[in-house]
Amino acid sequence: MKNRVQVLHGVNFDVLGRRDPEVYGGMALRELEVQVKRYAYELDLGVTFFQSNFEGEFVEYLHRLPELADAAIINAGAWTHYSYAIRDALEIAQVPTVEVHLSDVSSREEWRRRSVFDGLVLGVVAGKGPDGYREALEMLKKELDK
Ligand code: DQA
Repeated sequence: MKNRVQVLHGVNFDVLGRRDPEVYGGMALRELEVQVKRYAYELDLGVTFFQSNFEGEFVEYLHRLPELADAAIINAGAWTHYSYAIRDALEIAQVPTVEVHLSDVSSREEWRRRSVFDGLVLGVVAGKGPDGYREALEMLKKELDK
């Protein structure tokens, strides 16, 4: 049974609790992870977490992704908007992935509207806070149950 989901957080998520609470809700990364773990449990999915501020380390983790998980959620933070290296690494991984953003990137600065993961991910959930991760897990569950 395929049910292992890897949640990947990129740059600046280690200090999520210190970021603008109006935009990101004020919760710490650990609290977000506890919430996502609960959602996963309810959906009968196993979930593991990884965060890095180092692009090369993130890329190397993506290289290992096929051994580690059946599906993934990626919130790459600002890398989303410019890191072709991370896009290429995700493409190499060939693991079904949903892109999540806590904030509504489409209604913020122009540069946040572009995602390097366009055309690569199963779907994008943005602007729904932690609930967006539940939606992403539901999308992945459907995919894994196919
Ligand atoms: C973010 C949106 C990005 O534009 C930003 O750089 C982040 C967080 C989000 O979850 O809303 O770091 O990915």
